[in-house]
Amino acid sequence: MGVGRIGAVLTALGMLSVCAASGSGHVAKRETGAEAEGAEPWDGAVFRPPSALGAVGVARNPGTRRPGREEAVDLPVLLWWSPGLFPHFPGDSERIECARGACVASRDRRVRGDSRTRALLFYGTDFRASEAPLPRLAHQSWALLHEESPLNNFLLSHGPGIRLFNLTATFSRHSDYPLPLQWLPGTAYLRRAAPPLQQRAEWRRRGYAPLLYLQSHCDVPADRDRYVRELMRYIPVDSYGKCLQNRELPTPRLQDTATATTEDPELLAFLSRYKFHLALENAICDDYMTEKLWRPMHLGAVPVYRGSPSVRDWMPNNHSIIIIDDFESPQKLAEFIDFLDKNDEEYVKYLAYKQPGGITNQFLLDSLKHREWGVNDPLLPNYLNGFECFVCDHELARLDAEKAHAASPGDIPVPEPHIAQLSHMACPMPTPGFGSVEEIPENDRALSLARDHSICLRFLWPHSEKGRIHSCAEVP
Ligand SMILES: *[C@@H]1O[C@H](CO)[C@@H](O)[C@H](O)[C@H]1NC(C)=O
Ligand SMILES: *[C@@H]1O[C@H](CO)[C@@H](O)[C@H](O)[C@H]1NC(C)=O
Repeated sequence: MGVGRIGAVLTALGMLSVCAASGSGHVAKRETGAEAEGAEPWDGAVFRPPSALGAVGVARNPGTRRPGREEAVDLPVLLWWSPGLFPHFPGDSERIECARGACVASRDRRVRGDSRTRALLFYGTDFRASEAPLPRLAHQSWALLHEESPLNNFLLSHGPGIRLFNLTATFSRHSDYPLPLQWLPGTAYLRRAAPPLQQRAEWRRRGYAPLLYLQSHCDVPADRDRYVRELMRYIPVDSYGKCLQNRELPTPRLQDTATATTEDPELLAFLSRYKFHLALENAICDDYMTEKLWRPMHLGAVPVYRGSPSVRDWMPNNHSIIIIDDFESPQKLAEFIDFLDKNDEEYVKYLAYKQPGGITNQFLLDSLKHREWGVNDPLLPNYLNGFECFVCDHELARLDAEKAHAASPGDIPVPEPHIAQLSHMACPMPTPGFGSVEEIPENDRALSLARDHSICLRFLWPHSEKGRIHSCAEVP
């Protein structure tokens, strides 16, 4: 799953094309060949075996003063411990220029023990505690990029798991480098005009349900299918994915997820025939919002949403989605959807944010404006490069603080450690999607999965301090 997932992440980030056009942007180019010749002769002081980092630190542009040896040697190194995400191409190291200065990004694990290697970068989905590089070196920060839900790694939703890290980039606004809007390209994406209501009325007359469900990942901690199954008793839902499927997509091409991805224009045109889209995240975590939420809005449908408990904070206005948990039962929700389905005037109020000036949530507007990374935006770095620079700047600042302390230990204290918090991946324990725990069969897969993970963690973590860290896979 790891590799496929990374591929998906890279595609989502537009990385694959960025890679092809490598060397563009602000990243200094290496002068291969010339480098080796230009390397300074060994001064006899210390013998260093050929470094895995090579001479990458001495990248320079023609015409600029050649950086002194000191400078090259001193550049902090950021090691991507998850090599699949290394956001540079080709080669294993690259000098990066960030706001505070330069660092070297590398994916060569041989530099792990180097005193210049100041940070290790991990991808959450790949992170296995049992494979973590231990013992941990005191001078190194651990940085975690985990934009996905805890479904992909429960470990990180537990205090001892997340607190292994110093710096985080997660979906949570509380993380050090927050990515809550990673699936929202911008306001224009939301503003796209909705199809005319008459068109949708026509599809309804031809037998389309008011509600769409398109889900193929069925046993998830959010336990969404149990809710949808109940809802289906009270209102028609057309379900095309593997979960609760009751209809087929119209053409073989669309049915094949290999040819028709979820961003396929023909598929999107088809989905936009529906007035309401069921949008249930695979896990419930504050600020965890995905394309399931934003895509229906792009298509001019109303999301019927369960996911981030703080989703209201991010909506374009206070009347743009239907939140499942506002309704006391699936039946009540069904009645409300039916009411909107029959009252165009009430329905279109949910699309008011598409009108000029309709996006009134200043927090959303500010967050989009101030984020320094883009979603498929050729003019902005993607969040991998953005986070890398964030870590670089943090390490340069930490180095400065350490130097200042060393220069006058009496006046300037040792820099405080920076440790990630549980709020960086705030996901409460999973609960049933509908009904109470007592009603759920003992062998239910969705819930037992979540339960097993947390039981495993609760038992193992207290013992994990002594030497190596165990992983849940080792539970008998
Ligand atoms: C939604 O916003 C409008 C205008 O900003 C305001 O008048 C209305 O009271 C708000 N409604 C709710 C439920 O907050
Ligand atoms: C990084 O976090 C660990 C705890 O996981 C802590 O012991 C260490 O001091 C922190 N390092 C820095 C540089 O903040």
